[in-house]
Amino acid sequence: MKFFIDTANLNQIREANDLGVLDGVTTNPSLMAKENIKGEANIKQHYVDICNIVKGDVSAEVISTDYEGMIREGKELAALHPQIVVKVPATKDGIKAIKYFSDNKIRTNCTLVFSVGQALLAAKAGATYVSPFIGRLDDVSTDGVELIRQIVDVYNYYEYETKVLAASIRHTMHIVQCLEAGADVATCPLSAILGLLNHPLTDIGLQKFLEDYKKVNG
Ligand code: G3P
Repeated sequence: MKFFIDTANLNQIREANDLGVLDGVTTNPSLMAKENIKGEANIKQHYVDICNIVKGDVSAEVISTDYEGMIREGKELAALHPQIVVKVPATKDGIKAIKYFSDNKIRTNCTLVFSVGQALLAAKAGATYVSPFIGRLDDVSTDGVELIRQIVDVYNYYEYETKVLAASIRHTMHIVQCLEAGADVATCPLSAILGLLNHPLTDIGLQKFLEDYKKVNG
């Protein structure tokens, strides 16, 4: 399973990248706003800055909701850098735009996916990635990880090439569950990635090793 970081914060992207296990980055308009990145030129430059930090795919989302706007914006975003993947919402115009991009060799990430039906249309349109939002499903008493499992099963059975990118991951256990469910990618906050390392027995064991070393070596 690949690891993407779900943020537009350059320091966090650098920190995750320095671990050596980062495969890409996802952003969205809320994450860009959180970093106070505003204005078309600054937003575009920020995407390029992210691409210059990591080696893998970087999702950049369109703001337009109509087909023509999505196509115009998506082309501009894709032209910024070869690592850019155009993020498009799972709407009627979005699916049409994904089909256009797929036919024109522009890679896409179909976002705001909350059902198998939306994932099916995204795959049929040729999306590179589909992003089910598992945390937001959990928020409304629906099992987000179960949706990952269902989409993975359907894609495997019908041999769709679209990759399942588990998004809206809120904590470390979500990552482990997505791994078990067969997600191709998990995009996570830095805290959830670092949380994978937390284990009291590791801390206690390390402390003991160092104490024993000191006893003999001073
Ligand atoms: O990857 C999508 C993500 O940014 C949404 O996360 O926590 O706002 O549901 P969240």
